[in-house]
Amino acid sequence: MTKIAMIIACGRNQKLLDLIKQIISTKSEDILLDCMYLFDDKLKMCNGCAQCFIDGNCHIDKSDNMNEYKNRMMQADIILLLTTSYLGNISGISKAFIERLSGWFQLFILLGKRGVLLVVNDNYSSQLPVLYLKNIFYHLGIDVILSKSFSIKTFEDYCQTDLWKEITNIYYKNEIISEYLNEIFVKVKGIILSMDRNNYKKIWWEQREMIDCKSIYDVLNKLEL
Ligand SMILES: Cc1cc2nc3c(=O)[nH]c(=O)nc-3n(C[C@H](O)[C@H](O)[C@H](O)COP(=O)(O)O)c2cc1C
Repeated sequence: MTKIAMIIACGRNQKLLDLIKQIISTKSEDILLDCMYLFDDKLKMCNGCAQCFIDGNCHIDKSDNMNEYKNRMMQADIILLLTTSYLGNISGISKAFIERLSGWFQLFILLGKRGVLLVVNDNYSSQLPVLYLKNIFYHLGIDVILSKSFSIKTFEDYCQTDLWKEITNIYYKNEIISEYLNEIFVKVKGIILSMDRNNYKKIWWEQREMIDCKSIYDVLNKLEL
């Protein structure tokens, strides 16, 4: 059984929402799907207090579903983010969600999980949303195994050719974490080493003994992921 946390950061428009519901209904039996509808749940915006830069904690997590979302992401094997593209970039709600994850940035807290990024637009397809999201996912420790940008029509066609089977096939074939995630790890390690010893990120890296690891592969062995 593969557990997928599906973050749905689109679907204000009924056509796309209906399509998403249809896609969800075609999931194969070997997938456990946990859907998070960011619009329905009235996700709050980051209020800019910057507390997460000090201790990693977001004080508004308690007042909406963010704590729960984080726990649900921690339970998943795959994190799937589905977003609309607005004006050549990700939707505002996706950005709000990502900003609320700032305390997790560079911790590699979701290491061992795989990522799927699906971006839907009308017809103007820019690579920017996918590139941006990939970078964010890697800095959370998620290895992106599939990322695509679609018009709503090609998205519909693609999903009919069994999106879920494709995701699980790639997931089981890609057992080795990508070299790109390793490159990000090495780069971030340099930044962490230069931080003050009281910085919560440095403490996290030390407590998990990531700071002594030469590569992401060493971390995976150490943490038995
Ligand atoms: C404010 C806004 C900006 C948009 N910008 C783009 C764009 O740059 N390129 C594009 O192809 N489609 C663009 N679209 C179209 C949406 O990506 C498309 O209609 C999508 O299916 C709407 O999804 P939603 O239900 O999540 O709003 C835009 C739509 C809106 C409302």
